[in-house]
Amino acid sequence: MPVRRAAGFLFGPGRRPRFAWECSWLALEAGFGKIHDLKRRKIHSPGKKNPPATPGGKVLVREFSARYAGGIPPWQIDRAQPEVLRLIRQGKFQGPVLDLGCGAGDNAIALASCGFRVVAIDPVPEALRRAREKASQLSLDPPPEFRTGNALSLAKSGLRVATVLDSAVFHIFSDGDQERYAREVGSVLVSGGRLHLLSFSERETRQPGPRRLTLQQISRPFQAGWVREEAVRCRYEDLVRADGAHAWRITFRKL
Ligand SMILES: C[S@@+](CC[C@H](N)C(=O)[O-])C[C@H]1O[C@@H](n2cnc3c(N)ncnc32)[C@H](O)[C@@H]1O
Repeated sequence: MPVRRAAGFLFGPGRRPRFAWECSWLALEAGFGKIHDLKRRKIHSPGKKNPPATPGGKVLVREFSARYAGGIPPWQIDRAQPEVLRLIRQGKFQGPVLDLGCGAGDNAIALASCGFRVVAIDPVPEALRRAREKASQLSLDPPPEFRTGNALSLAKSGLRVATVLDSAVFHIFSDGDQERYAREVGSVLVSGGRLHLLSFSERETRQPGPRRLTLQQISRPFQAGWVREEAVRCRYEDLVRADGAHAWRITFRKL
């Protein structure tokens, strides 16, 4: 596995990277297999049939389970998102970190490889299986904890974290569920804690993909009790667009 080879090569067996640049180097190395992998694996991409934003989220979970059962979904790039690596390099994570809708686990693994304590949740068992399998091939200390979980039902989880990462999850929810999402995320974040959110933006006009959201739409549920600290136009890498999808990276701080 490239990550393991890179870790062994760069840091010696069993040594985990300590510094941001080491971590991002490692994650970049992990991506070198992407082009080769694309050629040999089946990519599940059912054209314009995107997961709908559905109140309650139950239908969504069924939809996402089907996407994972169908093979490799377009968002599973098998390396961390560049924007997440940028945030790590900039020192914008504080542990413990909660990764919402972690998918196949690459962002959580990148964070754990930089020494952060990470809890990563997803409601789809197949996503968690892939994530655990990847993490088990690395000697991460502490390893990320992959749990079944729902971003719309966090209050009872008992979690208390300093940073929440959302890489392409918020935009799957309906307006009503986005309001609920903001309340649930607020319930597990400490005061002063941050939510880093990556969402498809209105500038992305190509299919397939989820809802496209403007900065105003994304910010609406975070009006009271939050400060928007940063909003940056960026790209969300996927398997169907060579240049990535137009996206927003936004940081909200809980008051
Ligand atoms: C577009 S994928 C993004 C995966 C990962 N964060 C990434 O960037 O590679 C959205 C993920 O959200 C998960 N998901 C769906 N409904 C969810 C919910 N209610 N709570 C948390 N995650 C959910 C899906 O199973 C899927 O893994």
